[in-house]
Amino acid sequence: MGALPAEPWCIREQALDPARAFLHETLFALGNGYIGMRGTHEDFGTVADGTLEGTYLNGFYENEPIHYPENAYGLARTNEFMLNVPNAKRVALFVEGEAFDPAAGRMLAYERVLDVRTGVLERRIDWESASGKQVRIVSRRLVSFARKHVAAVEYAVTALNFSGQVRIESFVDSAVTNLLAGDDPRVGSAVTGPSLEVVQRDVDDAQVLVLQRTRNSGFLLATATHTTVVGGAFVERRGEGQAFEAQLAQGATVTLCKVIAYVSSRDVAEDDVASHALNELKHASSAMFAALAAEQSAYLADFWRQADVEIVGDDALQQGVRFNQYHLLQSAGRDGKTNIAAKGVTGEGYEGHYFWDTEIYIFPFLLFTKPEIARALLQYRYHGLPKARERARAMSHEQGALYPWRTIAGEECSAYFPAGTAQYHINADVAYSVRLYLEATGDFDFIAQYGAEIVLETARIWLGIGSYDMQGRFCLNAVTGPDEYTAIVNNNYYTNAMARMHMRFAVQVAERLRAERPADYARVAAAIDLRGDELAALTAACDSMRLPYDDTLGIHAQDDSFLSKKPWDFANTPKDKYPLLLHFHPLVIYRHQVCKQADVVLALLLLSDEFTLDDKKRDFDFYERVTTHDSSLSSCIFSIIAAEVGYRDKAYEYFMETARLDLDNTHANTEYGVHTAAMAGTWLGVAYGFAGMRLSNGTLRFAPTLPAQWQRYRFKVHVRGALLDVVVDAHGAMYTLAEGDELAFTHHGREVKLSKTQPAQRMGDAA
Ligand code: BGC
Repeated sequence: MGALPAEPWCIREQALDPARAFLHETLFALGNGYIGMRGTHEDFGTVADGTLEGTYLNGFYENEPIHYPENAYGLARTNEFMLNVPNAKRVALFVEGEAFDPAAGRMLAYERVLDVRTGVLERRIDWESASGKQVRIVSRRLVSFARKHVAAVEYAVTALNFSGQVRIESFVDSAVTNLLAGDDPRVGSAVTGPSLEVVQRDVDDAQVLVLQRTRNSGFLLATATHTTVVGGAFVERRGEGQAFEAQLAQGATVTLCKVIAYVSSRDVAEDDVASHALNELKHASSAMFAALAAEQSAYLADFWRQADVEIVGDDALQQGVRFNQYHLLQSAGRDGKTNIAAKGVTGEGYEGHYFWDTEIYIFPFLLFTKPEIARALLQYRYHGLPKARERARAMSHEQGALYPWRTIAGEECSAYFPAGTAQYHINADVAYSVRLYLEATGDFDFIAQYGAEIVLETARIWLGIGSYDMQGRFCLNAVTGPDEYTAIVNNNYYTNAMARMHMRFAVQVAERLRAERPADYARVAAAIDLRGDELAALTAACDSMRLPYDDTLGIHAQDDSFLSKKPWDFANTPKDKYPLLLHFHPLVIYRHQVCKQADVVLALLLLSDEFTLDDKKRDFDFYERVTTHDSSLSSCIFSIIAAEVGYRDKAYEYFMETARLDLDNTHANTEYGVHTAAMAGTWLGVAYGFAGMRLSNGTLRFAPTLPAQWQRYRFKVHVRGALLDVVVDAHGAMYTLAEGDELAFTHHGREVKLSKTQPAQRMGDAA
């Protein structure tokens, strides 16, 4: 019982513990960037109240009007939320007529393991029925990385101490609903009742096809299963499924294999939804699970080859780091139409919405380990431009595009604009990811095709909201920065500094395009109606950008008013009053000098070259004192800057808070889904933090340090067509070109050049 043992590649549950059931459903969730299945059991409901049976499809959503009793012009009108879709993994087991139920009879042995090298969730149970018949049940489940629409379950039952009848029913449960949010805005949606209406249901001796339509968004969904059995036989159809029976001699086994497909009209044309789903099942047979499992292992071997972070000296941490990377791989949409929800596809927290979490936290991890997924994420933003243009018009911007703060298909879904729409920095965050993509890949084709339009259209918004003050400084007023405990302020430092980076980059891209690819330039300029004087206006705004700085304290002010606010009384705020957002009215929080998360400190990382080390130290010291880290997006950033300024203990402590955040449920809400941004923050903490990696203005830099608690660590980065393997130990760092022809970078300021003839170099000096 209790916590999960520390193992480098696995998470292992050694008992069925009702108190941890809800949490473990999230931790044992499987996904492939499209399908997400919570770690509920195939063959019994739940062992505890309040847990959540959930299956989700990234990007498949319902919408509902948002009702505001006190309305205002331009508020977000429609909420999109990720739907709980039919539970197709269901089976029911009967042993000589007695239903398998862990609450009845006796559990003789129990173990469940998720091995992130195989991507198969395996559960082993020995159970004795009330009348004393013992069975061994081994169930294995996967959501296929290689096949977007496919999942599978293998379910094997062995008669241990008797000979007799075993019956297994396999079915789809299509009567599903979403979770209600109640008072905590972070846990679910406001919708009540079912959102999916069954329009067709076909069941034969092996297959089930259920077609459903969403009430408002009008999408069609097919859930299809194909079930076969070895060691038993089909006996009857039952509801949305089939029953199979076996007469088992003592020691014999019956094995069921169920292949599952989900396809919706967001993926294919409406008329093709059913046939596409059935087609995925075409070769389904009892051998299919093994075939899918082999594909899964091969996919993961390739992933870990490129992405593995190894930490020698701390197994619990090693487990946390790999678990986080694995969940990110499970969460990331990769079809250009979907993105990464704040909770991945593991739960209904934040309603399946995509935020800036993707671009600022998760994108770099994917860019350096799985660049093809990073590219698809940018394509998603490109496809979101039409909606972002509409949103800009609703916000009275005559031109340009404003990305939604939270969304699935591109609608602004934030019903609380002070911490939603007001976070205009989302535009700069997207531009930052385009810029990083170009730095890391050199892929200017992509910029010409997609990136230029994204960065130019979104840069225009800064001219739309900005204005020059009496001193001629370009100001961005009435915005909210990343810190959600401070809202609607003038000249949020992060926003202004990122807007400046964004506008400069937009001008560079336009000029390079005009010089190198005049036809592309003409096409983009025509598409967005770019006027000749706009680039000059962007440059002028950059040159005069107001960037608040306090001379007395020698720090960057979070905004024009932050430093004049009353300090929060931390000494008299008991632990149980955190997170503050659940205990104080927003206005109470906004009036104080208190931060939910990294804001200026995040700018220190993203715009690293713009600050001296002393600046960074002073800013860190000040903002550390006023930050609660109530957001899971905070600690990792503090860890990175602490590492940079030489606060080694702090760097380690903040890193530890991030690395096992979900495994240890330190934010006490992992039940509702994993925290994908923080998970990526772990990778950032290793690469950007301890290894001091930075990539900007055409240079790649490392400044590795080794935490005292570790013997060694190792990670890989894909950069400019190369795959670089970095190992840091007490003697320094070893850099190896694992793929590619050449790569140049610096190590603590010293040049390193790797090539085919000299593919590896050891450098001393890991401090
Ligand atoms: C954070 C935001 C974040 C959102 C989704 C909030 O608690 O303050 O920065 O985008 O969660 O993860």
